[in-house]
Amino acid sequence: MLIKDILNQEQPLSSIEVNGWIRTLRSSKSFSFIELNDGSCLKNLQIIVQDTISNYEELGSCGTGTSLNIKGELVPSQGKGQKWEVQAMSVEIVGECGSDYPLQKKGHSIEFLREIAHLRPRTNLFGSVFRVRSKMAFAVHRFFHERDFHYIHTPIITGSDCEGAGEMFRVTTQDPFETKSHSPEDDFFRKPTFLTVSGQLEAEVFATSLSRVYTFGPTFRAENSNTTRHASEFWMIEPEIAFCDLQGDMALAEEFVKFLVSEALRLCPDELELFNRFVDKDLLERLKGIIERPFKRISYSEAVNLLSNSGEKFEYPVENGTNLQSEHERYLTEKHFKTPVTVYNYPKAIKPFYMRLNDDNETVAAMDLLVPGIGEVIGGSQREERLDVLESNMKQHGLDGRDYWWYTDLRKYGTVPHSGFGLGFERLLMLVTGISNIRDVIAFSRTPGNAEF
Ligand code: 4AD
Ligand code: MG
Repeated sequence: MLIKDILNQEQPLSSIEVNGWIRTLRSSKSFSFIELNDGSCLKNLQIIVQDTISNYEELGSCGTGTSLNIKGELVPSQGKGQKWEVQAMSVEIVGECGSDYPLQKKGHSIEFLREIAHLRPRTNLFGSVFRVRSKMAFAVHRFFHERDFHYIHTPIITGSDCEGAGEMFRVTTQDPFETKSHSPEDDFFRKPTFLTVSGQLEAEVFATSLSRVYTFGPTFRAENSNTTRHASEFWMIEPEIAFCDLQGDMALAEEFVKFLVSEALRLCPDELELFNRFVDKDLLERLKGIIERPFKRISYSEAVNLLSNSGEKFEYPVENGTNLQSEHERYLTEKHFKTPVTVYNYPKAIKPFYMRLNDDNETVAAMDLLVPGIGEVIGGSQREERLDVLESNMKQHGLDGRDYWWYTDLRKYGTVPHSGFGLGFERLLMLVTGISNIRDVIAFSRTPGNAEF
């Protein structure tokens, strides 16, 4: 039985079997206390072992991290703090644990645990992070399933650079260290191929046939930015909706964030309580605020005015026509509005080719949703559905229309207004856990100079 189910029992059980790893073991001459954890929940199960079991002495020499199989009886606990405990009839030592086990009882720093990413899920903090991650993934699917979106799988190997930022990892079977020169025609796919930075272009294909779709998969970016919010490999959720404009897109994005935050509170109360205690004292209050208060929407030019007149000293100047920096985004959401903010209608020059040109000819129907503590958690837009405008956008971005023939075809054959966005899954996890470094919400993070494990 899993410890999670044992702790939820209503009645004593005369015979149970449980597996797990020792968190602590305290032995006396005649009996031992074991705190056992199996990762199914935050809490440990208390086991009482009498010296009458045959291998009692051997057990006494076991330390934290040892794996055990225990058979016994579930009885009301004599001690404080827990409802149940197990009186062991037999204890099998499944795997001994070396005395150099790095997770001893004292608290360890998050940075130290990052270096032992293969063992850190055994700690209360990281066990909680990865249970929340799993629950949130499930919540993502529920959100879209309940709204009649179809889940589609877009390719990981691709020939197109959706974001046009040139931050792609090359996929090749050619040996880059060989001296003879290579050409893409001799390569595996007979053309240059890369790991995808976004499934959006392919999602648009499906939105313009199935109406409402979403992707949820890994994406890869070779950005050389070593920040606490950027990973080279991360997961993104990308809904794409036909017959939908920017207003509808922003409304869905806001509803999505509110839904995920309320699901985190509903499904992971113990874990969030732990984060609130040990990671970020304002977490629960902030999350409740996100659910209860309305989000704010402002245009990019309003945001620039507001920031320029804020009197705040920023490291990077606020300049009309340039990207908002993370410090600007955080000022808007944390200090000024104190609620998530959607900024829309960005200058066309700083946004990708696929965004729909507004009537002013200067801005595009883009939106970024900013949240406290992180800044941008969602980026999206209405897509350019007019063939001639799209082709001219592509030219201005220096793209070869022949590479995107299938994408422009969608505008020839029954084109429709459509919109979508991308939510960075790890950034959402940072929001709901209060954890401030993206490396700590990914099992095995990939960042510049680091692909250990
Ligand atoms: O704003 P981005 O670049 O938008 C797109 O890729 C669009 N194609 C999405 C769409 O409209 N379908 O990325 C979307 C989100 C960001 O808001 C951010 O949360 C996350 O993906 N993101 C990253 N997360 C972690 N590490 C990185 N290097 C990230 N780059 C983007
Ligand atoms: Mg973006």
